[in-house]
Amino acid sequence: MSERVIPIISQPLGNLSLPASSASWQEGAALRDTLQRPLRDLRISVTDRCNFRCSYCMPKEIFDNNYTYLPHSSLLTFEEITRTAKSFVALGVEKIRLTGGEPLLRKNLEILIEQLAQLKTANGQSLDITLTTNGSLLTRKASKLKAAGLQRVTVSLDGLDDAVFKRMNDVDFPVSDVLEGIQAAQEAGLGPIKVNMVVKRGTNEQEILPMARYFKGQGIALRFIEYMDVGATNGWRMDEVMPSADVLKVLQQEMTLTPLTPSQTGETAERWGYVNAQGEHVPEWGEIGFISSVTKAFCKDCNRARLTTEGQLYLCLFATQGYDLKSLVRTEHSEENLTRAIAAIWAQRDDRYSALRSTEVPSSKVSGETVAKRKVEMSYIGG
Ligand code: GTP
Ligand code: 5AD
Ligand code: SF4
Ligand code: SF4
Repeated sequence: MSERVIPIISQPLGNLSLPASSASWQEGAALRDTLQRPLRDLRISVTDRCNFRCSYCMPKEIFDNNYTYLPHSSLLTFEEITRTAKSFVALGVEKIRLTGGEPLLRKNLEILIEQLAQLKTANGQSLDITLTTNGSLLTRKASKLKAAGLQRVTVSLDGLDDAVFKRMNDVDFPVSDVLEGIQAAQEAGLGPIKVNMVVKRGTNEQEILPMARYFKGQGIALRFIEYMDVGATNGWRMDEVMPSADVLKVLQQEMTLTPLTPSQTGETAERWGYVNAQGEHVPEWGEIGFISSVTKAFCKDCNRARLTTEGQLYLCLFATQGYDLKSLVRTEHSEENLTRAIAAIWAQRDDRYSALRSTEVPSSKVSGETVAKRKVEMSYIGG
């Protein structure tokens, strides 16, 4: 193994002491964590690889030719993912987001989407199946993905200026190819489309207005994301975070925006709409969203669980440990037992990293000294 490998601590399920209440979870009963949050959103990472090297996510110095990615044998198969997802759906999940790394690098992803699209919620509804992508392969794949049952996509794009964007993706990838991918997704009916822009102060803040001008009128939701301290490799610094309040001020220099009411409990983005010259909100123009994990945590209603490429269950984007579901999926053939085990894990969840960020850093004692625990990388856990 290369010494550059980032150790990911996993906590085998066998080591967990499941709470007594786990045995009493009944099908149909409302599952809540210790903060009374339901489980609604499952994010499945299907690969830890990516063809971009965004500095805030997979910096080139770490994710170089010596970096060891997960071997194929340790990935969950599509059947294993679907079986696990079925248990999550039995517990209340209504939305599945496929992530990576770059999910479109996983071979035959359409087959997984077809399988997931068969799943139904307890009241017979289809799932909301969506995918986060860097857009590089969308032009080629959009219509196949739609045909397989994917409903919509979220595309990452950090600016419209080629020099800025290339500096951020660090692989010389041009803006035009991502824009083409977004158009292909729109034509294939993978909407409403969301575009995510991570704002790093001093790097791409000058792209805020050009991005808003470009996407206004296209029916797309453009979301500005505060640069977060995820993982342990991006060298995060608070002075590189541009608070959403400052982004809003920049937009208001030129556009009239109106705050919108949240469409769902627990959503990540605060939504704003465009207003026309007559002062009316025009929904068809699209939306602006602010994802403010640093300055305005949204843990209170967090209903998201994350399944990694190799079958670890993480209860928070900033977690330092996961639960080894893969061993369970591979040994436990009763769907009910798998569902109960997941229910037990969720029932004891108390994560709210962003809300605590300013006061507590996850730590552990090493030789009597308190050291920060290593957080999981976003490319491993998914966005
Ligand atoms: P939909 O509403 O299904 O479209 O998804 P979403 O609004 O949850 O958005 P998406 O998956 O595109 O997430 C957008 C970004 O928000 C991610 O790339 C992360 O940067 C951030 N994010 C998503 N979920 C969480 C979360 O649970 N905690 C924190 N701190 N950030 C999150
Ligand atoms: N801060 C904020 N968002 C991040 N993403 C990855 N790393 C970070 C970070 N450090 C998000 C981006 C990207 C998605 C895949 O993950 O939104 O679009
Ligand atoms: Fe790849 Fe997305 Fe991470 Fe960029 S943010 S390196 S595109 S996974
Ligand atoms: Fe949920 Fe953790 Fe994000 Fe808070 S920081 S919203 S608990 S994933």
